[in-house]
Amino acid sequence: MKPLSQAAGIPVWDRFVRLFHWALVGCVVANFFIVDDGETLHQWLGYAASALVLARVVWGVVGTPYARFSNFFPTPARLRAHLAQMKQHRSAPTAGHNPLGALMMLSLMALVLGLGATGFLQTSDYFWGVEWLQTLHERLGQALIAFAGLHAMAALVMGRLERTHLIRAMVTGVKRTY
Ligand code: HEM
Ligand code: HEM
Repeated sequence: MKPLSQAAGIPVWDRFVRLFHWALVGCVVANFFIVDDGETLHQWLGYAASALVLARVVWGVVGTPYARFSNFFPTPARLRAHLAQMKQHRSAPTAGHNPLGALMMLSLMALVLGLGATGFLQTSDYFWGVEWLQTLHERLGQALIAFAGLHAMAALVMGRLERTHLIRAMVTGVKRTY
């Protein structure tokens, strides 16, 4: 993981990553807050979100350098080093994902896949009307929204602390310090 040292900006998020991110946000927010859960549209949006995550997993192996899991996978050693830096108030902006952000990103993607799987099972003959599965699906949805809220807040706060345009970078692709 490279520290971010250039105020001039580094192109980090390729077009696929940015499109993936905001399309995923759209599907998840629409499914939780707007679309009625009985509707076919809910199922299609849920499958679209799952397909986006699966495509991102492939991109994490074959994609551009900063998009690769190898660049940011939150190994215990990377997490320990990052937490130690944060404790000493000297966490430097990273060009790609920082280890905590990466842990959150993987959790969000796992929750989306969990929703896709439990959603699909609910519509199958075998699990039709099974209450624990409906409850599990609902709880996963609530966890996803709670985690996503935390994630967006962390992006805001870390951006301020490290004086880096994190959210803008997810729109333009270029990460800049100020
Ligand atoms: C349902 C809501 C959301 C989900 C599921 C979600 C998911 C994700 C995922 C999976 C990534 C990793 C991107 C990649 O490498 O492909 C990511 C990164 C990011 N997201 Fe979100 N996100 C959500 C909402 C938001 C919102 C509302 C904001 C801004 C206000 C935001 C800002 C960011 C930023 C800035 C990054 C890059 C962080 C970095 O520089 O390391 N996200 N998000
Ligand atoms: C981003 C993905 C998804 C999110 C955030 C999500 C979220 C939710 C939420 C919050 C509920 C309401 C639970 C309740 O209050 O009873 C719900 C219900 C439901 N979802 Fe999803 N869902 C997603 C994906 C899917 C998928 C892929 C399917 C099926 C193919 C699906 C099928 C259903 C069904 C059938 C219900 C109604 C269950 C009932 O009768 O209580 N969902 N979903």
